[in-house]
Amino acid sequence: MQSCMLRFAEQLRQSSVRCMSSAVGRRRKALRSAFPVLDLPLQPIHHHVYEANLRNSKACLKMYAEFREKVRKGGGENAVARHTQRNRKLLVRDRLRLLLDDEDFLELSPFAGLGLPYGDIPSAGCLTGIGRINDLWCVFIANDATVKGGTAYPITVKKQLRAQEIAIQNRLPCVYLVDSGGAFLPLQSEIFPDKNQGGRTFYNEAIMSAMKIPQVAVVCGSCTAGGAYVPTMAEEAVMVHRIGTIFLGGPPLVKAATGEQVSPEDLGGARLHSAVSGCVDHFAWEEKEAFDYTRNIISTLNFHLPEEEEDTLRRTEEEPLYSPEELLGLAPQSYSYSLDVKMIVNRLTDGSRFQEFKACYGTTLVTGFAKIHGHLVGIVANNGVLSYEAALKGGHFVQLCDQRDIPLIFLQNTAPAAALTLTTSQAETNSNRLKAQGSMMSAVACASVPKITVVIGGCHGADSYAMCGRAFDPNFLFLWPNARVSVTAPGHAGSLLLPDDEQEEEQKKQEEKLNKSLKEESSAFFSSGRMWDDGVILPQDTRKVLRDALDIIKQQQYQLSTEKRQSAPLRM
Ligand code: COA
Repeated sequence: MQSCMLRFAEQLRQSSVRCMSSAVGRRRKALRSAFPVLDLPLQPIHHHVYEANLRNSKACLKMYAEFREKVRKGGGENAVARHTQRNRKLLVRDRLRLLLDDEDFLELSPFAGLGLPYGDIPSAGCLTGIGRINDLWCVFIANDATVKGGTAYPITVKKQLRAQEIAIQNRLPCVYLVDSGGAFLPLQSEIFPDKNQGGRTFYNEAIMSAMKIPQVAVVCGSCTAGGAYVPTMAEEAVMVHRIGTIFLGGPPLVKAATGEQVSPEDLGGARLHSAVSGCVDHFAWEEKEAFDYTRNIISTLNFHLPEEEEDTLRRTEEEPLYSPEELLGLAPQSYSYSLDVKMIVNRLTDGSRFQEFKACYGTTLVTGFAKIHGHLVGIVANNGVLSYEAALKGGHFVQLCDQRDIPLIFLQNTAPAAALTLTTSQAETNSNRLKAQGSMMSAVACASVPKITVVIGGCHGADSYAMCGRAFDPNFLFLWPNARVSVTAPGHAGSLLLPDDEQEEEQKKQEEKLNKSLKEESSAFFSSGRMWDDGVILPQDTRKVLRDALDIIKQQQYQLSTEKRQSAPLRM
């Protein structure tokens, strides 16, 4: 009897082991086959719309190339000659080449500053972006002194603050390359007094320091007036001999106040600040040495990055089934030229795989899971108007991703104008929709997972809020060159005006005028010039940009010293 019991117990153990191992097997199998391939090739029926979109994309790419060329020239030939020959300084892009690892970096808002009421300010006088230094992603903020001596225009301040915000939101080390004459004086009233203006840079430096977000400054030019606080508030600063100066008022001011003649070097040069004032920590004879110091400083930041093999294992990604170039014909030239958004989704995801959520419900919004270069993400993509059902589904899916800690990618292409309310049944539909959109907005605003928004078409009206527009604080927001950003799309100005039968003619003129300004003001380049986004990206580069953004967001988990130990900056 006893041996029988023992045999039974052994059989039970073995069967439970078999059950466990087959459960593991099942689980593995389930994980491997979890994302069905979304096989949607281009069909002859798409041809007409595809070709029209392609023509529009080509025109947009031409504009993109022109803007790039404009920015590449910095402050112009004379300023470049003055900078390199008279002042013997390196150009900002050459500095970045010495600072960053030998690979592409993610430049932020390269067209910021173009087409502003106060003129074209190439790169807003300051390059910002995220690049790797000794494998570690770092934000950089680098003045371009060929643009009016690197002085800060209102757009420069906006660009610097956004770069700091990105460093804060994603816990990224931040490197400042300082070469600036301080405030651009003719516009001082728009730079100095308000909350999100000049002083905010220094406030952020203190907050970042307290949050243990490392900051390093390289003084490779003037740090005059406000600019002097950037290196003094960074945790470590490097200064270049003969090129770097730090002072609140320069030699002309000293002469005016005391009559004393003093050289910039004696007043606030690298020797003085590294040996006497202690404002900087490292003295460099020349720029190359300063960037070597900086790279070495970054390697002391105590991040533990995964080994290369581990990283490769994580990235068991497959390329999409279709060429990314096809995205140019899928990028809608206007809302009525939008094709099924799943044709865009499956040209961005690993192996064109997509696990759709609620495929049969609220079909004007597509939601589901996919991988992008091995990163699991939740995708929310407009596929028509954000109806009551679509918004309910959107809110549900966002909460699902929040619960599972899965980053969200929004592909935004919203309706060109608000829905009409002329009948009782329309009023009912619209008020239901309003409630559902409100709850989707709450879900998006409160979701604590990283969010990345790509405007692939229109960004109009309230639908754009629910789709994580700029005001909803996505970690990154990029535009395709064909994108349109305005409260209502060009051609739909009539929806903004009250009908007036008595003055039909006058109203028509007003509508035309409004449509014309909507056309000008809604272009992706107009938006990017004002920094309503983090930059215009090419459709065919989107997968790579998303990969970089997801890698960047993920890096914070490798920082070993994250607890807050003190609330004051580290410097003396
Ligand atoms: N506001 C507005 N314009 C300024 C400026 C400022 N604070 N500082 C410099 N500029 C302009 C110059 O007028 C010049 O304009 P231009 O090209 O149209 O002639 C251009 O920037 C470059 O200046 P320049 O002095 O020729 O170049 P540089 O490279 O030799 O020197 C600086 C650059 C910034 C070191 C030097 O101009 C300087 O010390 N400026 C004063 C800085 C200052 O006192 N700032 C206080 C801010 S509160």
